[in-house]
Amino acid sequence: MGRIDTLLATMTIEEKIGQLNMVASTLAITGPGQLGDVREGIRTGRIGSLLNHWGADEVHAVQRLAVEESRLGVPLLLGLDVIHGHRTIFPVPLAEACLFAPDLWEKTARAAAEEATQDGVALTFAPMLDVARDPRWGRIVEGPGEDSWVASQMASAKTLGFQGQDLAAADSLAATAKHFCAYGAVTAGREYASVDVSERTLREVYLPPFSAAVAAGTAAVMPAFIDLAGAPMTANAPLLQGWLRRELGFEGVLISDYNAVAELMNHGVAADAVEAAALALKAGVDIDMTSDCYVRGLPEALKRGLVTMAEIDVSVRRVLDLKDRLGLFDDPYRRGSAWPHGVRDAERRELAREVGRRAIVLLTHRAAILPLPPETRRIALIGPLAAASREMLGPWASAGRAQDAVSILEGLKAALPQCRIDHATGVDIGGQDTEGISAAVDLCGGAEVVVLCLGEAAAMSGEASSRADLGLPGRQRELADAIFDLGKPVVVLLSSGRPLTLPWLFERADAVLATWFLGGEAGHAVADVLTGRFNPTGRLPLSWPRLVGQVPIFYRQRPTGRPTKAGEHYSSSYLDVPATPQFAFGHGLSYSRFTLLDFKCDPSSAKAGEFVEVSVTVANDSEVDGEATLFLFVHDLVASVARPVLELKGVRKIVLKARERGRATWGLSTGDLSFLGPNLNRVLEPGRFEIHVGQSADPAGLLTEVIELTP
Ligand code: BGC
Repeated sequence: MGRIDTLLATMTIEEKIGQLNMVASTLAITGPGQLGDVREGIRTGRIGSLLNHWGADEVHAVQRLAVEESRLGVPLLLGLDVIHGHRTIFPVPLAEACLFAPDLWEKTARAAAEEATQDGVALTFAPMLDVARDPRWGRIVEGPGEDSWVASQMASAKTLGFQGQDLAAADSLAATAKHFCAYGAVTAGREYASVDVSERTLREVYLPPFSAAVAAGTAAVMPAFIDLAGAPMTANAPLLQGWLRRELGFEGVLISDYNAVAELMNHGVAADAVEAAALALKAGVDIDMTSDCYVRGLPEALKRGLVTMAEIDVSVRRVLDLKDRLGLFDDPYRRGSAWPHGVRDAERRELAREVGRRAIVLLTHRAAILPLPPETRRIALIGPLAAASREMLGPWASAGRAQDAVSILEGLKAALPQCRIDHATGVDIGGQDTEGISAAVDLCGGAEVVVLCLGEAAAMSGEASSRADLGLPGRQRELADAIFDLGKPVVVLLSSGRPLTLPWLFERADAVLATWFLGGEAGHAVADVLTGRFNPTGRLPLSWPRLVGQVPIFYRQRPTGRPTKAGEHYSSSYLDVPATPQFAFGHGLSYSRFTLLDFKCDPSSAKAGEFVEVSVTVANDSEVDGEATLFLFVHDLVASVARPVLELKGVRKIVLKARERGRATWGLSTGDLSFLGPNLNRVLEPGRFEIHVGQSADPAGLLTEVIELTP
């Protein structure tokens, strides 16, 4: 008998359920409820895993209780939300998505895994793969944006980065793909609200990133808090047991979200903790995070015949298997002892700076105000986000420390030592006091340029932080208007966890940059871009709305019988605002100017199984070296099911010197032209397809060729 069989055969029912019980540590709390003393539970084998407990000594201390003092010595599993870095904080995931660079996505996850495992952590509750098309939802900040293809690329990169080559290695962190699934589609963007999407949208948009995570070997998956058409995900057997386990063959661990098993009672599908526990377990949820329902409910559920011992055993085996794969049985203290802290710190900070500046999106740029000329001698740096180092870390910063974060003020000062930088806050981020505005305006008097730092506080996005108004919080608009009224050149830096609807600002500012929450190196990253040390390359992973009334908004729309046409009454549009976004998916300016020419699809017809080479020349028509980003979209013109007007199939980045030209090439497979047919089975239908390339999803900038798929 193997180790796990022997253990299973020896365990009491309490010890088995203990393995399925994850409890919050006394170090931090990330959901409702009380913190209790976990030591007794660990010693008696009633707690199999802990969340929010880190630090090599702290972890080894609790691990010793499990290994040396519990009857069977089963090691604990230590989980933590290592979302975008552990000690070194990288840009928030939505900002990282702007890179469209799987190699860097993987690198930041690897770096986070190295640091978190040094702190004894064995599992992260990441990556977050929720496609989100509604920026009212605060958790849009935690994910990859609106597109499923991008989310799938991120799923693989992050999973590989966290887990490394071998899950048992001392620096490998088990990944948890979350939140399964369609959480981003909560009604009206309201946190924890119900979700109702079609089976087609589920399969075309929300499931593919999870399939990519499973293909990349994710150790765990976390069901979302929400219900999907009346079936709460924590008890959603068809999707958990059916799709995930049977269809995809996922053999890892399912970990409930925080208290979600108990919340099945609030959802109205379980009368008591016993029914809640039985529903979740039968749906395949192996670990109950913090709700205590498995401990309280499973013994009674057994008695009532709602679950069987065999079903409990299956879950216990999966948990023990994961602990085994993590190497915990062989050496429970391996994480936390591998390397001393501090090794490669400088390298990781450099990575944070590189990823930070690549995440910045130059949204508008008039009058060639940027980069700031080297002879600039006086800058007024105004606004509540200018010296806000803590905010730069974003809403979920693991073990990141405010004192390690570089503010925009600090970054600019370091980059421009010859320049006088006057700083005033003007107003608070969300406060009502406007007294500081006149002093801020006065400070701009002698400045050559004003850099205005506006946006949200970090805590205004993330979990439980939906907003119905996506304007600037507090009195920031009054501050901005007063500054604009001076008639000076103004560059706006927007720090936020979501796109903000600010058409007036985009009209008045000379340049606006989306700087999201860039992490510990935020200030240096911003300074690199403002000074031209780095030419911006960030691209929007979502469509940026003009007004809240446009959301949900995304490029991958199906055609309508009455396509949007400006000035045409009976067309799919609004009376009061254009139907187009403020900025298209993929938008992002550069200090260089790129044009696309000589677009070819070769051959122009293909059969199933063949490839079409798609290529385009990119010309850097400017005197500035830069990096262009090209998007490849397809559109099936006539099919048995109406297909989206644009579907992303590939992204290329190309670095070009001033006046240089280069060619970007893709091998488009006929598989890229397949889709889910009327019965939701994958089909490849002969016919004509538009192939587009462009620098964003804005139809005005797309080059188009038509190819034919022949029978
Ligand atoms: C969140 C999860 C997170 C968990 C543990 C929940 O409230 O929804 O994303 O992993 O807490 O902190």
